[in-house]
Amino acid sequence: MSGFSEQWLALREGADAAARAAALVPAIRPRDGRTAVVVDLGAGTGANLRWLAPRLACPSRWIAVDHDAALLARITARPFPEGTAVEPLALDLAQALDRVPFAQADLVTASALLDLVSEAWLERLAAACAAARVPVLFALTYDGRVAWTPRERGDETVRELVNRHQRGDKGFGPALGPAAAGRAAALFAARGYEVSSAASDWTLGPEEAALQSALVAGWLEAALEVAPAERAALADWAARRRAWIASGASRLAVGHVDLGGLPERRNAEDAEGRRENRSTSLRGDGSARALPAGAPCGAPAARLAVQRLTRPTRKPELCGAPRPLRPPR
Ligand SMILES: C[S@@+](CC[C@H](N)C(=O)[O-])C[C@H]1O[C@@H](n2cnc3c(N)ncnc32)[C@H](O)[C@@H]1O
Repeated sequence: MSGFSEQWLALREGADAAARAAALVPAIRPRDGRTAVVVDLGAGTGANLRWLAPRLACPSRWIAVDHDAALLARITARPFPEGTAVEPLALDLAQALDRVPFAQADLVTASALLDLVSEAWLERLAAACAAARVPVLFALTYDGRVAWTPRERGDETVRELVNRHQRGDKGFGPALGPAAAGRAAALFAARGYEVSSAASDWTLGPEEAALQSALVAGWLEAALEVAPAERAALADWAARRRAWIASGASRLAVGHVDLGGLPERRNAEDAEGRRENRSTSLRGDGSARALPAGAPCGAPAARLAVQRLTRPTRKPELCGAPRPLRPPR
């Protein structure tokens, strides 16, 4: 079992969908000219597919990879976007990355996965993607920033303890945790990728009280594992945060990063494709219409809004944060 419950994934799906950076969805060029093959790593119950498939503007066949077969079974148990086919692949990615069919893929993607993995595993992933010359899109990587409103004593202590906990082994070796998005940008850039990033922060208000409460519970547990001697202070912090949530006045911003990457050869082809297709592949409002076989599908014009990276830049501040937060070391 992965430790990620179906209930938790359902609870976060709305906040994830609201936070994601649509501008990073790449223009993908199906190898067969018709249907894009998308490999989704750590697919869980399919939230990434439900968000991304309708934005690809061409039919897609998803290879949904996860080591938790029970979560994968939930993908096909509910409706999924029209023009989408799903093949579950139950696999421990930590042990068997080489069994992922990268060579078939038109896009490799993951959501809420990279902060769980180690640097060594991420290097292997970057090497496998680069060898297949496949575009990548990694969404919702937690980056260590947290801002509660109103503030309470203990918020910063808990954030630091949680971020230490994030660096523990989550099955892939010592996890990168909050450093993951920056390391991924650097490792893919080193393999010749043109990397773009955008903030995908959760901004949770009173309507997301259930998600806020689940985070308090999860963060309390994580903080206690790191600092068991602080039990009384941590329990007191949780009680005060729960009281704010119950009052309807609690707001919470949680920092995430979305990362997109185009492989070296695709950069040149895609720039060419953008020049050729901009006038024919998009409507005036930027939405896609039917494309000729072999044309890239996605939202090339929208990508102009995002930040291009060859190296990780400073993290953006959280929207609505009462003052700038310094990212943890
Ligand atoms: C935070 S969840 C994200 C799930 C889904 N991508 C989403 O956005 O809802 C992380 C997912 O990675 C999967 N996972 C964790 N370790 C894994 C491993 N070693 N091999 C394959 N999948 C793994 C978990 O089962 C879980 O579904």
